[in-house]
Amino acid sequence: MSAQAVSPIRTLDKNGEVITSVGFQRFGFDCEVPLDVLRSLYLRPHYVITASQADESKQSEETEHAKFTGAYGAYQSKSIFHPDTQSISYTTLSRFPPVKLLPPSQRKRILVTGGAGFVGSHLVDRLMILGHEVTVLDNFFTGSKTTVSHWVGHPNFEMVRHDVVEPFMIECDQIYHLACPASPPHYQFNAVKTIKTSFMGTLNMLGLAKRTKARFLITSTSEVYGDPEVHPQHEDYWGHVNPIGPRACYDEGKRVAETLTYGFHRQDGVDIRVARIFNTYGPRMNPFDGRVVSNFIVQALRGEDMTVYGDGKQTRSFQYIHDLVDGLIALMNSDETRPVNLGNGDEFTIGDFAELVRDIVEKVQREDGVEPPRRVNIIYKPMPMDDPQKRRPDTTRAKTVLDWEPRWTVRMGLEEMVRYYKAKMIEGSL
Ligand SMILES: NC(=O)c1ccc[n+]([C@@H]2O[C@H](COP(=O)([O-])OP(=O)(O)OC[C@H]3O[C@@H](n4cnc5c(N)ncnc54)[C@H](O)[C@@H]3O)[C@@H](O)[C@H]2O)c1
Repeated sequence: MSAQAVSPIRTLDKNGEVITSVGFQRFGFDCEVPLDVLRSLYLRPHYVITASQADESKQSEETEHAKFTGAYGAYQSKSIFHPDTQSISYTTLSRFPPVKLLPPSQRKRILVTGGAGFVGSHLVDRLMILGHEVTVLDNFFTGSKTTVSHWVGHPNFEMVRHDVVEPFMIECDQIYHLACPASPPHYQFNAVKTIKTSFMGTLNMLGLAKRTKARFLITSTSEVYGDPEVHPQHEDYWGHVNPIGPRACYDEGKRVAETLTYGFHRQDGVDIRVARIFNTYGPRMNPFDGRVVSNFIVQALRGEDMTVYGDGKQTRSFQYIHDLVDGLIALMNSDETRPVNLGNGDEFTIGDFAELVRDIVEKVQREDGVEPPRRVNIIYKPMPMDDPQKRRPDTTRAKTVLDWEPRWTVRMGLEEMVRYYKAKMIEGSL
């Protein structure tokens, strides 16, 4: 069956409308890209065919893939997985996904630090498809070359292994500064290095922005609000952070990074943007880094008990990656220099969220013809120190100044993510 003949999975937004593209047309530029193209890059990463499978089942894998990626599955490398030896034969892409052909006046040279990480790689996909020249700067501490390897060799793409705590020089028009481990086990692994990355890394990148006159956007975090006494959190709230606790290396690191950013802005006129990102989830998230969404999905897919830390009454809100990337690009191209919250306001208790994940995993398994062997249990363990009780963004500013609102329901994003992890499991890489 040809890829085009397969009926695609329908993804609905908050208003019940089918999502066929992400991005928007605003601020005098078009940044809309087809969802099919993006999905072909992440939903079946390194699209794998299992060596021992009969031709018929290979075709069913292709058909399955085409449900999400339409004709763009043809751009995937179709690497071959050998189950006997648990090894994989990678291939290179024969054709890159289509990118816009921008005139030089519109094509930007964009540096993305941390571009091989979860958020960075999705941002890079989007910027590439939009036709810009993208350089990824990453030391691969938590990121991996595989997240952006589908662009290696593309004339608009460059990847540099470099640690942002060391100075770096490049000519560029925009800098998205993301480099920093974001999950508690990773940023607590070496607290001194984390704060060094936040401080020295941001200092170096701001220095670069000053020299090149590039516009600089930093991805700060809702953690700057600490365990908040104000709910929901708006940008003018100063926060309630424990400066000496185990999370301080990240929280205070980001706070000082913001301070530095505004210092360069006031003293040196650097053109800055500050995004305060709330919990975000999506494909390519490291499944073992202890973040709640990936933890729950992987446990449920494996039929293991799902672990809730605390009594499950603490609340969180979760935003899907495509909404965040929309917001980051909108902010970069707006005139807003104040901090802007980017997050989804749909608030869940962690206990309810665990149940939602369990239901969605079961639904996806049934849709794929697999009856879940049992209903997994939800178990409760003690809460880690300084874990905030409540977190929900006030995104009035983003809506007012960027005309930005999340489009993806938590359910729709979770379904995509479950399919991504499921594919990784079949592939043998999870
Ligand atoms: N994912 C979220 O929910 C979330 C929430 C708030 C803020 N953020 C921010 O967004 C950014 C990206 O987060 P993510 O979820 O993609 O995390 P991630 O760990 O997947 O990505 C971080 C990337 O930065 C790289 N990196 C780390 N230290 C570096 C250094 N010293 N030099 C060069 N590269 C380095 C890592 O290798 C990785 O590729 C971070 O700044 C994070 O603080 C993320």
